[in-house]
Parts: sequence; C-alpha cells; structure tokens
Amino acid sequence: MSERIYNFSAGPAVLPETVLNQAREDLWSLAGTGIGVMEHSHRGKAFLAVYDQAVALCRELASIPDNYKVLFLQGGASTQFFSIPMNFLTPDKTADYLVTGSWSKKAVAEAKRFGNAHTASSSADKNFNYIPQEVNYSDNPTYVHFTSNNTIFGTEYQTEPENPAGSFLVCDASSDIFSRPLDISKYGILYAGAQKNLGPSGVTLVIIRDDLIESGSADLPTMLQYRTHAENDSMFNTPPTFGIYIMAQVFAWLKDQGGLPAIQKINEIKAKKLYDYLDSSKLFQGTAEPDSRSLMNVTFVTGNEDLDKKFIAEATAAGLDGLKGHRSVGGMRASIYNAFPEAGIDKLIDFMSNFESTNG
Ligand SMILES: Cc1ncc(COP(=O)(O)O)c(C=O)c1O
Repeated sequence: MSERIYNFSAGPAVLPETVLNQAREDLWSLAGTGIGVMEHSHRGKAFLAVYDQAVALCRELASIPDNYKVLFLQGGASTQFFSIPMNFLTPDKTADYLVTGSWSKKAVAEAKRFGNAHTASSSADKNFNYIPQEVNYSDNPTYVHFTSNNTIFGTEYQTEPENPAGSFLVCDASSDIFSRPLDISKYGILYAGAQKNLGPSGVTLVIIRDDLIESGSADLPTMLQYRTHAENDSMFNTPPTFGIYIMAQVFAWLKDQGGLPAIQKINEIKAKKLYDYLDSSKLFQGTAEPDSRSLMNVTFVTGNEDLDKKFIAEATAAGLDGLKGHRSVGGMRASIYNAFPEAGIDKLIDFMSNFESTNG
C-alpha cells in the first residue's frame, strides 16, 4: 500500500508527514554530504550539527532553564523507572509515587529495589479511570514521581501535582510530552520515551536539573550515572543517532506549528471533537472520568465485547488502524498525539456515527 491510512497506535505512533518526507531524503544523503543520516559518525560535523539542533530546539520549545541538561538516553522510559531510584534512593530514604496506572505501578516496583516507595495516591480502586485529587505524602520524601498521562487508561493530570518542600518532582511524560506548555522549573527530572510524541522508539528524552546530576550516586556502573551522559553530551557511548535526528525534525515541526501553546490548542480541538461525540452517543461511552480525560489517548467502550470487536475489525477495514484498547481496559483507544491529523478524527467520528446507526 503506498497511501497512508489513519494510525491511532498508542506507540510507536504517527509522525508528521513533513518529517517523514525529509527523513526519506536524509536517509540517502544528509545535508548534501553524500552520506545518509544513519551512516554518519556521531563524532562527525554533520551529526554534531543535528545534535546541536535537537538540543537547541528542545530548549527553545520548552523554555528549559540554563540549570537543566537535555539528555538523549537509551533503554526506554522503563530504564528510567530504575535509574532514578538507583541514583537517588537508599534503603533509609523514601520516594513517593502517585499511582495512576500500569506504568506508575512498574515504576514503584523498581523503586522498591533501592529504598522505600510510598504510594501517596492511587486510583486503582476504579481501575485507574481518574486522577486522584487526594495525596498523602510521607514525612520527608526524596522525590515525588508521577505519570502525567496514562496511555492505557486515557487519563491525564490537568496540572502538575504540588510536591512537598525539600523533595523534587519527577515526571514520566512519555505519552504527553510537548503536547502543551509546561514549566520545567517545577521539575527535578522529566523523561519520556520518544515513540509517541517525539520520534521513533530507541531514544528517551531526559531533562534533568544540574544539582541532581551532581548529587546522584557515584558508585554505579558508568553508563547508569546521569553525570556520565551530562558530561559527555549524551555521547559517552554511541547515541541513538537516527532517533535524535528525528527528534530534531519533530521539534522543528512543532516550532513551525507555533510551539507548545499552539499545539495545545490544536490538541484541545481534536480531543474535544471526539469527547463531545462520545458524550452525545447512545452506543459508545468514554471510560475516563470527565475531569481526568487525556488529550492524547481517548478510551471508550460499547459495553458489549463482541460489538467492540466488530467495531475494531470494521474500523480497521475502513483505514482506521490501531483502535484496539489495551487488554486491561478493553474496548477501544484512539491515540491522537501531536502529529495525528484532525481529518482522521473527523473520519473516526463519521465512522462511529454510522456504526451506531446500524448497530445501536
Ligand atoms: C506513560 C508510559 N510510561 C512508560 C512507558 C514505557 O516506555 P518504554 O517502552 O520506552 O520503556 C510507556 C509505554 O507505552 C508509557 O506509555
């Protein structure tokens, strides 16, 4: 198939078409060098220009203060689940976790290997369909970890939680990074696997405050210390060059869209269309509580598993791919990240209304 279809995959996910077209050219020959982007040495001039552009655009987009480093690491967001407690927790220290889904549960499990992990809030009682407002912090947490957007359950923090004085805030922003403006100065560490809003899998963006880089454990294997990557511009070992290249392109695309405030407006328009339809539908229901709804992952069900299956099969045949929900929620999930076009949402809503009139 040479035509592209609408891809609602939760990740790896849709990328901007202009980025893919540019990548096609640069895979063959980057910036007139006669060498493709994947074939360039990470120490060479051509790739270093790409790296500099990725860092500069990232800093500009998110207004990252000077006392933070931008790192491009490997091992996915899942490696951050253990790297953070490994660097900052000891058996006599406690980290507080806001548990809003499967990914935060995995992060807690890793923290327990290194110190105390206190669950300060949880929405497990309702299968994670909301963001809890009540938080019970421990006495003196080293850090507070939260997942800004819960990819599987379709919920999202509307604003950052307030962490107790003396602690630093850590955010797994894998599935909503750069979907809206954010105030980096509120965070100690913010990380995201690239494969939803930033680029291909295989690279993780980590934004980390300088004092934390310095205070992290120095007894760990070299590759597992943040200072190693900060001191070597993410090139202590061979970095994921292609992933960094795509991120630079995606950052440039985001800047062309008008930056984070503009992409937020676009994302709000896109998500509102779908939620408005769900709220008016007699067949489909959204699964997330309205005040916790995600702009990135819209989860919904018909209430009848066979009908869900039929819907997914017919939608796939109609060129609406990747709508099957995660098994822990069932039903459907439309992942509508930054690069997902509004026309795809219109097509989905049309398709849902037709399905509702024949099956409702
Ligand atoms: C919110 C969130 N955190 C972490 C992960 C795990 O990321 P990775 O596969 O990069 O380890 C995912 C993957 O979907 C996710 O959605």
